[in-house]
Amino acid sequence: MDWGMKNRLSKIIKPSTGRTVMLAVDHGYFLGPTTGLEEPGKTVAPLVEYADTLMLTRGVLRSCVDANVNVPIVLRVSGGTSILGNLANEATTVSFKDAIKLNVSGVALSIFVGSDLERQTLLALADLINEGEEYGVPVLAVTAVGKDMVRDARYLGLACRIAAELGAHIVKTYYCDDFEKVVKNCPVPVVIAGGKKIPEKDAIELSCNAVKRGAVGVDMGRNIFQSEHPVAMIRTVREIVHNDMSEDKAWDFFNTLVSEEKKAGKKGKA
Ligand code: R5P
Repeated sequence: MDWGMKNRLSKIIKPSTGRTVMLAVDHGYFLGPTTGLEEPGKTVAPLVEYADTLMLTRGVLRSCVDANVNVPIVLRVSGGTSILGNLANEATTVSFKDAIKLNVSGVALSIFVGSDLERQTLLALADLINEGEEYGVPVLAVTAVGKDMVRDARYLGLACRIAAELGAHIVKTYYCDDFEKVVKNCPVPVVIAGGKKIPEKDAIELSCNAVKRGAVGVDMGRNIFQSEHPVAMIRTVREIVHNDMSEDKAWDFFNTLVSEEKKAGKKGKA
């Protein structure tokens, strides 16, 4: 692996722990003005210091994030569909030249294994990896779930392994039963998405289980920025990911932070 690739990867996955807390705020690329991301800049501002990486689109990066920000960027470079259409019908939306101009540490693209457009998305991933290899930029493959596909270890394991075989440097998937099998069968680091907003205690349990079963961290969005206490939530997830904090301790830690916020008269939101 060349120096640039290694250096960029070290900005995403922290060498001190081999783990990462990625804050995902790219949802608008197909969901539009997602709850909690109506004004992405305001959402991100109090959270960014606790994130190892920010995952977002170039539009939001340029218009809502200060260029002086000190956080590595993983840029979503696929899209072209909305929640109203066929989500699998994505294509690459950002040139590699522009990604490099934006000084990104990585690029991310979704694959839809099992969908009628699986070939299109897999070949787009392969093309992106070819460019990533040329310029020393890691590629995060997002295993988006195809229509009618069950989020189980068999399906997610298939999608993760294919992404890794094509050369993805990191794979993002969902937590599932037998998650350790998904990780074992994927020769590159795996991070989990948080998925739809669930109670904080459940999101804490999900993060603990994922890390315990081999994930190198999370690429989490809604369970952080849609929480009533997003700062407490990302700080708790950080303890789980980087310090292996247990579920019970993490829940106590979260509640302590919430109490402190209340005492200080803050809601934990921007
Ligand atoms: C989905 O494809 C987007 O890339 C999100 O970044 C991803 O789902 C992670 O966000 P969340 O934790 O809200 O699921």
